Amino acid sequence: MLIVYESRTGFTKRYADMLAEKTGLKAYRTNELPETAKGEEIIFLGWMRAGIIQGLNMLRTYNVIAVCASGIGHAPEPSAEEVISMNKIQGMPFFYLRGGCLPLKEQKGLYRIMLSFFVKMLKSGKVKTENPEESASIIENGFDGVREENLEPVLQWLKAR
Ligand SMILES: Cc1cc2nc3c(=O)[nH]c(=O)nc-3n(C[C@H](O)[C@H](O)[C@H](O)COP(=O)(O)O)c2cc1C
Repeated sequence: MLIVYESRTGFTKRYADMLAEKTGLKAYRTNELPETAKGEEIIFLGWMRAGIIQGLNMLRTYNVIAVCASGIGHAPEPSAEEVISMNKIQGMPFFYLRGGCLPLKEQKGLYRIMLSFFVKMLKSGKVKTENPEESASIIENGFDGVREENLEPVLQWLKAR
């Protein structure tokens, strides 16, 4: 079994590394997959962009047995049901891991533009979300939600297999 992950700013990578340390499994970035990955079971971790789990599509022909998605909210946004449906992972174990966000001024290029626009939308009340002020503040000021205990459900699932 392998851990494979996709991470832009490092929060999801930290979960992948933590999971590797706790399980003894090796963790690979999607673009560094070894030849042998085709024959292995894979636990995939990816960051969410507008509900789409980044990197997952590159593994459609691989034996992915569980998917973890990182995002900025307390709970998955969109909802877990929507994420499962949007990413076509029905019937597969799905785990949400709260990730984090670099401060807006440290974001680069197009992502900075997209996130600035999203902050404006949040502040103007145009986005339907649980706590728009908190979300806007997280994006503007940065936030680190990576916690070891967030991996507990994944570890429990692995143990029960
Ligand atoms: C353009 C963009 C869209 C995002 N969309 C979502 C989203 O739909 N849901 C969510 O929870 N987080 C969303 N995020 C936040 C990231 O998923 C979150 O910061 C993640 O933990 C980053 O992981 P990384 O450091 O491994 O790249 C978005 C971030 C960006 C830049």
